[in-house]
Amino acid sequence: MSEELKRQAAAMAIADLRPGMRLGLGTGSTARHFVDLLGQEVAAGFECICVPTSEVTARQAQSLNIPLSDLETLDRLDLTIDGADEIDPHLNLIKGAGGALLREKIVAAASDAMVVIADASKVVPVLGRFPLPIEVNRFGLGATRRALAEVLADHGAEGGLRLRETAPGASYVTDGGHLILDAFFGRISRPEALSRDLLDIAGVVQHGLFLKMCKTAYVATPDGVKTLTNGTN
Ligand code: A5P
Repeated sequence: MSEELKRQAAAMAIADLRPGMRLGLGTGSTARHFVDLLGQEVAAGFECICVPTSEVTARQAQSLNIPLSDLETLDRLDLTIDGADEIDPHLNLIKGAGGALLREKIVAAASDAMVVIADASKVVPVLGRFPLPIEVNRFGLGATRRALAEVLADHGAEGGLRLRETAPGASYVTDGGHLILDAFFGRISRPEALSRDLLDIAGVVQHGLFLKMCKTAYVATPDGVKTLTNGTN
């Protein structure tokens, strides 16, 4: 059921595409459906040029003969389509469960529009129930953790920080060669201030708060796909 809903949301985004578009391709299980459907369109003659947000998405797109480029060759993109872990009523997001948050944010920021595709389980009244991924440099991890702990305390976090692992003792490493600390807030009441405080820490590379970046979300429910627009939810 959930995979079917994700695919329905992805199909809505496919309907937005126009020939010749420069597209950002997201990462995660919902974005994977979008790339799959885009591959079908490309096989049928649809023309586009795409920048993937992860090595995983790049491999999927290559396997489907979707033309790929990068942000050296293309200075701007028309549209990025990506999933999300949480979506609040202002279409602010938490992203990064798949570990691709840095490239996802770079690609979304280089795009004229960002469309999020998701099933209804991702819609929340307030961000923070889902752990916030924070990408950090490997160097100075202890110092970065201590600085982050202070920011978590200042923002009333209900839980702590956990180094993401692929197996006990084996750190998860991002495409950029960094580590991820997942922060358990429970409720993020001041997302803009939190974003600034996190980015002020020297060892923080990026975080998974995507604020004021998404204008439209296609959210699939058992009763159909709903279009959420900032300010109308
Ligand atoms: C990848 O790093 C993430 O930002 C994903 O976009 C997000 O976790 C949504 O993934 P799913 O579509 O698999 O839920």
